[in-house]
Amino acid sequence: MGVKIAGLGKAVPQMVLSNEKLSERVDTSDEWIRSRTGIENRCIAVTETTEQLATSAALEAISAAGIEAHNIELVIVATVSPDTTMPSTACLVARNIGADRATCFDITAACSGFVFASEVAISMMNQGGYQNALVIGAEVLSKMLDWEDRGTCVLFADGAGAVLYTKSEENQILAIETGSNPKGADQITLPAGVGNHTFYQVEERKQTIQMSGRDVYVFATTKVPESIRKVLEKAQLTPEEIAVYILHQANSRIMDNVAQKLGVPKEHFFKNLSHYGNTSAASIPMALYDAKALLKSGDKIILSGFGAGLTWGTMLLEW
Ligand code: UT7
Repeated sequence: MGVKIAGLGKAVPQMVLSNEKLSERVDTSDEWIRSRTGIENRCIAVTETTEQLATSAALEAISAAGIEAHNIELVIVATVSPDTTMPSTACLVARNIGADRATCFDITAACSGFVFASEVAISMMNQGGYQNALVIGAEVLSKMLDWEDRGTCVLFADGAGAVLYTKSEENQILAIETGSNPKGADQITLPAGVGNHTFYQVEERKQTIQMSGRDVYVFATTKVPESIRKVLEKAQLTPEEIAVYILHQANSRIMDNVAQKLGVPKEHFFKNLSHYGNTSAASIPMALYDAKALLKSGDKIILSGFGAGLTWGTMLLEW
């Protein structure tokens, strides 16, 4: 028995914020954002919540899979922007979709969160007891941004992607590897909670994402090719044998650099960040959803995430 993908779902907020519109408020320009990152638009939540986006994506994945929510035994949400720390977003999604038998919890591994959550789900499924597992990446990062920090606010955005994994005689998940380098813990940060209150002192602190962009760029363009090569070695494949690379959608230049390091044409790297920006844990399942029309049966696909922690994770799938 193996594990295969039975359904995919995606949800984004209604409001689209273009680079032009953003530059009316922030000291930036469409030219800078487009040329340095590849981002043109992003979706920003006005009324939508992380719970709602995760639920919409989950409902679409379940419907695509043709599986009753009652038969889902595991719900894992990867997020750094939950509406509540407790209950977990996974519990809220399970309640909303009627997954009344599921074990539910959230995972925090930032932009690697979807791969980490998938590894946990697939390990639990392979150990037995779980037939169907829903793994969701969902973020409303716009709430966590300092809208005066042009180094971050032009990059991050909101959305959700969901994958319904099911146990099957055919195995689609060929290899996974994940890792962390806590020495880089200070390179991307977001304080937890709504306040930093101690017993004696109520401290005002900015609850926003801070990032040392250049350091993270160097980390990503070094670690991601290494991680991909490790996974390919496990499966005895070469970079040329991969039909589509789906990387965390942080920066078009990172993807081009990784393509160059692997010696494959950059056209093999799927990109949708021009529409959605960097949606952290949601970006890989959202990109897989958008790429699915291009995928052919038997195609080998790499999914690779990287981000705060520092963390990284790569999965090899056979479509
Ligand atoms: O999702 C988690 C993982 N995150 C990432 O993978 C992000 C990795 N890092 C990056 O993608 C890039 O480092 C950034 C897109 C964040 C920044 O691009 P960069 O080419 O590394 O720019 P920089 O930070 O070195 O800044 C270059 C210049 C600076 O001006 P000076 O000092 O050269 O005069 C910045 O002040 O660009 C300026 N700048 C901007 N200008 C207009 C920085 N942000 C902006 C902006 N608009 N939004």
